[in-house]
Amino acid sequence: MTTDPASPYRIEVRNRHSEFLAQPGKTLLVAMELAASQAIAVGCRGGGCGMCKIRVLAGEYDRKRMSCAHISEQEQAAGFALACRVLPRSDLVIESDHFVEGL
Ligand code: FES
Repeated sequence: MTTDPASPYRIEVRNRHSEFLAQPGKTLLVAMELAASQAIAVGCRGGGCGMCKIRVLAGEYDRKRMSCAHISEQEQAAGFALACRVLPRSDLVIESDHFVEGL
């Protein structure tokens, strides 16, 4: 597992059978777009719409502030997060496609 802060992190998107490399300091969503991947749904890019909701299954990450309209405290504790608000700190294993319309 990569933990060197200068090395890109390997992001495995398990439900999409896909992976991409994330540059340190970039949010997960920006890193995915820079890697020309489409493994996570993209919406507002600012934490407001919930489209990029994922679940982190393994790895370390920091979270910028997230709207509790899309991620409850219980969900945060269970690893759910908004990819546009997540900063990877190690390789990650995630599931994408957790956005549910109308919630
Ligand atoms: S893209 Fe809208 S909340 Fe992440």
